Amino acid sequence: MGKILLAPMDGLADCVLREVLTRIGGYDGTVSEFIRVSGSLLPHRTFLRVCPELANASRTRAGTPVVVQLLGSDPQCMAQNAAQLAELSPAGVDLNFGCPAPTVNRHGGGATLLGDPELIGRIAAAVRQAVSPAIPVSAKMRLGVSDTARAIDCALALAAGGVSSLVVHARTRDDGYRPPAHWEWVAKIREAVSVPVIANGEVWSAPDYQRCRQVTGCDDVMIGRGAVADPFLARRIRALAAGDAISDERGDDWLQLLPALADFWRLVQLRVEARHAPGRLKLWLNCLRRTFVEADSLYLAVRPLRSIEQTAQMLESHGIPVSRNALPRAA
Ligand SMILES: Cc1cc2nc3c(=O)[nH]c(=O)nc-3n(C[C@H](O)[C@H](O)[C@H](O)COP(=O)(O)O)c2cc1C
Repeated sequence: MGKILLAPMDGLADCVLREVLTRIGGYDGTVSEFIRVSGSLLPHRTFLRVCPELANASRTRAGTPVVVQLLGSDPQCMAQNAAQLAELSPAGVDLNFGCPAPTVNRHGGGATLLGDPELIGRIAAAVRQAVSPAIPVSAKMRLGVSDTARAIDCALALAAGGVSSLVVHARTRDDGYRPPAHWEWVAKIREAVSVPVIANGEVWSAPDYQRCRQVTGCDDVMIGRGAVADPFLARRIRALAAGDAISDERGDDWLQLLPALADFWRLVQLRVEARHAPGRLKLWLNCLRRTFVEADSLYLAVRPLRSIEQTAQMLESHGIPVSRNALPRAA
């Protein structure tokens, strides 16, 4: 079976969620949130802050490789920063040509670059040249800015620039995150380029994964929000592919998820300031509501709480074993 990759999600899947999800398992690799490159040479500590896995041979503690993503529009500056990043031996360097955020697009980064295939090809080539051939350089693109007219030109330019693989999020920038994902366009791009194409967009279940592979013809699939909403999704996909009976008893899964929620809560307290920890938990619980009815009541119970102590008590009252040994960061 092909690779299943956990997508980069800025503000949602940071190192804590990457650690928890890859420990539950089923993922062959993942990508960090984007690191914005704009003019200056970023110090090692910036890369390590966004991707602390770099200090662990660029792997999550479960051993899943983490590729580091860069976002920027100046080929030279991107190349210099990629070379700086390469000193930390990332599992790979990924280039972001998909971010739709207005603040990023205003500065000529992310998905707006899809209007200029020649430029994204130059960015890919400059980065490819700047880092050792042992480090894969990949790219992640959408289908275009407002339409798909230049999708294939962009993919060809990236392949000519030397990327070793290409993730295609099957929507334009203007589509935002609205369904549907246009998987048939991923098939067109796959047929046009010689590098492996990884399909991405709207995979929420094991049957979605199978349909996505059928329509795109891609072996490899990257999953974003579906992985956050259902932490067992990659395992469900593997079970379905292996012909194992898969449980539709989401209630059982909820019980299995409780230790992972406890882990998340412990790690979040180590990672973020105390005042932000409850918010981070709420963010994930809100996503889990899509899959688990139990997440709904827990989310509603936790939502009004502001302090670590209150939140911990509420988690305990919902059967989540809270460790009191975590040393919260000072506010
Ligand atoms: C909250 C959020 C943050 C994201 N941040 C990034 C990012 O930093 N880099 C990137 O390439 N894509 C980012 N994406 C896009 C996802 O990687 C993925 O392409 C998109 O969500 C479609 O896949 P899905 O339908 O499986 O979620 C983000 C998506 C979301 C929802």
